[in-house]
Amino acid sequence: MSYLIENIQLIDIPKISDPDGRGNLSVIEKDFLPFKIKRVYYLYDVPSDSTRGGHAHKELQQFLIALSGSFDVVLDDGMKRRIITLNRPNKGLLIPNGVWRELENFSAGTVCLSLVNEEYDEEDYIRKYSDFVLFKRT
Ligand code: TYD
Repeated sequence: MSYLIENIQLIDIPKISDPDGRGNLSVIEKDFLPFKIKRVYYLYDVPSDSTRGGHAHKELQQFLIALSGSFDVVLDDGMKRRIITLNRPNKGLLIPNGVWRELENFSAGTVCLSLVNEEYDEEDYIRKYSDFVLFKRT
């Protein structure tokens, strides 16, 4: 997937507001994501001073949603860094493969949902930043 890190933006997830004030419902279906979802996992009970992520993926693409609470995603393409805050359950962040990410500043009670296009495979991870920089150069 080709990308410019400047173009990575929050994406609005369709929201159905109940006309009788019974709350909201958001849905992801069909071709909303540019990949077929093969795995779903979620982070929760994350202490506010913890950092998650701290890696890139060779092939995996990921769509992140703050189902509850908020956190910051630091994105890094090996040249530039950007920080995007997720704090709404109807906004998601599509992270292409080949992007270093760190998740930090978790508020209490945050639940971070992750929809991804691959099964878990440790071989797909780049866990050392220096390896990531090399990966981006080749
Ligand atoms: P990791 O992806 O490094 O978490 P994070 O990026 O949120 O800090 O995964 C943490 C641990 O969980 C690591 O030992 C791998 C394991 N894991 C699985 O076994 N299956 C999975 O689907 C995921 C996402 C992680």
